[in-house]
Amino acid sequence: MTSQTLREARKYEEASEKFIKKDERPDFHLSVRTGWLNDPNGFSYYKGKYHMFYQYHPYESKWGPMHWGHAISDDLLHWEYLPAALAPDEAYDRDGCFSGSAVALPDGRQLLMYTGVLKEHQANGTYCEVQTQCIAVGDGTDYEKYVQNPVISEKDLPEGASRFDFRDPKIWQKEDGTYCCVIGSRPADGSGQILLYTSPDGFEWKFKNILFSNNNRFGKMWECPDLFKLDGKWVLLTSPQDMLPKGLEYHNGNGTLCLIGEFDEEKGVFKEEHNQTVDYGIDFYAPQTILTPDGRRVMIGWMQNWDTCNMRSAEEKWFGQMSLPRELFIKNGRLYQKPLKELEQKRCNKVVHKNRTFSGEITLEGIKGRRIDLELNIRPANGQNLYQKFAVRFAKNDKYHTSLSFRPWESVLKVDRKFSGSRRAIIHQRRCLADTRDKELKLRIILDRFSAEIFVNDGEQVLSVTMYTEQAADGISFFTDGSVEIDVVKYDLLAN
Ligand code: FRU
Repeated sequence: MTSQTLREARKYEEASEKFIKKDERPDFHLSVRTGWLNDPNGFSYYKGKYHMFYQYHPYESKWGPMHWGHAISDDLLHWEYLPAALAPDEAYDRDGCFSGSAVALPDGRQLLMYTGVLKEHQANGTYCEVQTQCIAVGDGTDYEKYVQNPVISEKDLPEGASRFDFRDPKIWQKEDGTYCCVIGSRPADGSGQILLYTSPDGFEWKFKNILFSNNNRFGKMWECPDLFKLDGKWVLLTSPQDMLPKGLEYHNGNGTLCLIGEFDEEKGVFKEEHNQTVDYGIDFYAPQTILTPDGRRVMIGWMQNWDTCNMRSAEEKWFGQMSLPRELFIKNGRLYQKPLKELEQKRCNKVVHKNRTFSGEITLEGIKGRRIDLELNIRPANGQNLYQKFAVRFAKNDKYHTSLSFRPWESVLKVDRKFSGSRRAIIHQRRCLADTRDKELKLRIILDRFSAEIFVNDGEQVLSVTMYTEQAADGISFFTDGSVEIDVVKYDLLAN
């Protein structure tokens, strides 16, 4: 039975999505149906379709009581909206259905596992949010909350773990048919940890172990964990709050952390061998992954970040989109990301400029656009000294541009969205170290109207930013203060 709260949300979204024109949205990134979107939830493959749910406040383009929005896709690039899946309508989730995940049950139904939030009045007069793990089961469109919710609560926490910071279950089924989930938690030291739970059937859960403890190394509370096997290793992704910077690897505030190592399934312990940032840009947080039917591990994140949230004005009908689906792999002990290979099928109108030597600022015939896939190789011009700086400016007209610049002497790559339409006094630049061992920097820049995702050196690093400039700002220029030789290949990305 659908509740009144869910019925109202469904009615509202159907009516108000009509006010958003197709060309006011990204083309091949999932954006919110109406209102506000944050984390991807329940990213899964079910009954022959990809499903993506998301943290959703349909009524305003800002965060509010969390529902779950819902969309399906055949190729992860074109999405069709389905009615909202969950609303905060029960005693245990009255103040929000927070992030969670999805899995198919052996009987053909789909199980959603999410965090129920309930504000509790404290003795000192304040309110705290009690967070418990809940379940809903459905057919891919309609979901029924489990009568015995919550299925994991305070009594299932290890000693010292907070009942106010306990959220974002990521569930998976093991080969033997039983289930596991990882959940973000705050231990007594105030930092973060990931808890591991097991279940024979997805409904009855038991605490297994503290999978991994932050010990205040990477920020404090850890949100939105994901654990999976990749290229013979185990990968633990999580999004820490309150990070301190470390060189150019980790920046202040919210971030996304990747730990690569081993997972002892018997003991329920993760052992770290390597750590790195997942996205070195500004707008990325809380990703989730799936295994596609053909065996690829694909990740999608929220293309925003709490600390640098590039809020739009209240009149805008939508706020929030996902990142591109990115294929993950491990190379030289690092996490690499590649745009989903199906994106290549959307390429058309190829324009090539090979071995172009220049200094100063130039534009190139046929190189422009706001829905493009742009490949650049940059190297010092033959026999010349290393240049000081190279920059590509895109989404550009007289008033606006977004830029990416590289200083080879310091190996510093910087993305800058200061002139990208933001009206907020927030961070607009971010730097990372880019390796140019082979004396050549390789970039692939993907634009989809309101965003840029930059893949560096075949996916060794990725930087994501949003931009809200007019679509007529579609110019691209190249700049160097030395002399460089570049290869440029540009494709337009077809709408359908
Ligand atoms: C992360 C997060 C989650 C929570 C959700 C609430 O972005 O804070 O921890 O479940 O957003 O919308």
